[in-house]
Amino acid sequence: MSEPIVIQRLTKDFGGFIAVDDLSLTVPRRSFMGFLGPNGAGKTTAIKILTNMLSATSGEALLNGIDVTKDPKAALADVGAVVETPEFYPYLTPNETLAYLGELRGMSKEDIARRSKEVMETVKMTDWADKRIGKFSKGMKQRVAIAQAILHEPTVIILDEPTSGLDPRGMVEVRDILNELKKADYTVFMSSHLLNEVQEVCTDVALINRGKLLRSGSVAELVGAATVRRIEVRTSQQVSGEVLNKVSRLEGISEIRAAGEHQFTFSMEGGDEAQARMLTGIQSLGLNVVSFKESGLALESLYMSLIKESR
Ligand SMILES: Nc1ncnc2c1ncn2[C@@H]1O[C@H](COP(=O)(O)OP(=O)(O)OP(=O)(O)O)[C@@H](O)[C@H]1O
Ligand SMILES: [Mg+2]
Repeated sequence: MSEPIVIQRLTKDFGGFIAVDDLSLTVPRRSFMGFLGPNGAGKTTAIKILTNMLSATSGEALLNGIDVTKDPKAALADVGAVVETPEFYPYLTPNETLAYLGELRGMSKEDIARRSKEVMETVKMTDWADKRIGKFSKGMKQRVAIAQAILHEPTVIILDEPTSGLDPRGMVEVRDILNELKKADYTVFMSSHLLNEVQEVCTDVALINRGKLLRSGSVAELVGAATVRRIEVRTSQQVSGEVLNKVSRLEGISEIRAAGEHQFTFSMEGGDEAQARMLTGIQSLGLNVVSFKESGLALESLYMSLIKESR
């Protein structure tokens, strides 16, 4: 069986501006891949090409082995997508919306009824299934969007920044659903510029910048390969600019930043030995260190260093 998503030498030229630049990428079956890159990196453009909302200048996008430009209907039959916050008819309820979309997709009445119930449960919106969408919060609309994407039982799901524009609670709710999807047998390809989100929910990651692929692989692999660590230090004293200045002069410290009154973070290379020496160095400056730990965001360090290199 072919891989669910294969992108080969994909390029999109917007009249002289190259938004996607010779991008090649394979999303393995049953992986949950984060498509990570800064604003303007070309994520949405690549996703729109994948979902046939935009045509490529050159290269190809295959879904389950079928070229999306040559046979979009067959290529997308097994794909569910949420690209940009979808607009729903405000006076329709989720159930009515799903019925309408299911019919458009050629589903039978029985299938629509059965699946509507299931997908509303998946996105934890059962109690809202017969309420008008017009009254819903952005987070609730996003959950309905995910419900419609999986209505026709696709195995491949493509999401463009599923938590963008949501408040912290909305983000957590959508992430919970993403984790549910991960437990099922889906292959998910999801763009994001939130490193913590990708590190939290994704098994694999592809990093892009300026339309070009910088690195791809499993999250564990990339995090393990990161040589630069981000360290978080909490102290009992107030962290003043003067203190930061002193610490920044220690050998091996870079990108030092205050993170609240009693906390700062910095980057350094090296494992336990080097970190132990650094801790001693910081204490010898007279700082009372309450905690000194590698922050979970190893991916952030890798990302930052790759983006810097690619400039
Ligand atoms: N229709 C268009 N015409 C011209 N330029 C475009 C068009 N669509 C996108 N671009 C440009 O292509 C680049 C990539 O845009 P894209 O929306 O794919 O980035 P992105 O990675 O999704 O960014 P974000 O994180 O902000 O959503 C941007 O510089 C954007 O301005
Ligand atoms: Mg985008």
